[in-house]
Amino acid sequence: MSVVIAPSLLSADFARLADEIAMCEAGGADWLHIDVMDGHFVPNLTFGLKVLEACRKVSALPLDVHLMVERPEQYFEDYAAAGANVLTFHVEAAPHMHRQVHRIKELGVRAGVALNPATPLSAVEEIVGDLDLLLIMTVNPGFGGQQFIEHTVGKTARAATMLRGAQSRARLEVDGGVGRATIARVRAAGADAFVAGNAVFAASDPRAEIGVLRRLAEEAA
Ligand code: DX5
Ligand code: ZN
Repeated sequence: MSVVIAPSLLSADFARLADEIAMCEAGGADWLHIDVMDGHFVPNLTFGLKVLEACRKVSALPLDVHLMVERPEQYFEDYAAAGANVLTFHVEAAPHMHRQVHRIKELGVRAGVALNPATPLSAVEEIVGDLDLLLIMTVNPGFGGQQFIEHTVGKTARAATMLRGAQSRARLEVDGGVGRATIARVRAAGADAFVAGNAVFAASDPRAEIGVLRRLAEEAA
């Protein structure tokens, strides 16, 4: 599957969000990754619906919304209406994953499920055929700029095998610590969508960095 580069706006300058989004577009970003945190599921608070609406107003890029929240189902409808194209929630926060995946799809949005580093792939085994996206966290969620956790490379490879076995067309996304030093390895393991926060926004030339990451991923495939 083609490479998707999704800059995470968590690392953007929020006072200049429209400029940062325009920079991502100019750099050839495929999606914009939007990290919603509630201070309960993860130990950090970020932003919510208003910021998603603001992003939707200034960009036509697909908005890849990553819900790091408890009771994610209470947000699906509003976030879909606000313009989310992908809604991903955490299996650790969702005892009724089957119902929730189908609820997202009914809203006309692609449905994703995310797994923390310590959560086994077996948690999604029964539902993998229904997913539009499987997100393997390559750090513990909560903050940008953390160090990539090495054992998640093997997990990504096993996730790719599991998706193939289910004849799934879901995207396999990785998120956390993805940058020049790691993107080729997760691509070779089978990931096809790459979230990058710090790697893009802390680069000396963030716009060019999106292209650098894309090339490294494409050459690894
Ligand atoms: C972490 C978030 C990530 C974060 C990635 O909880 O889900 O999307 O923004 O940031 P980097 O790429 O800096 O690790
Ligand atoms: Zn994220």
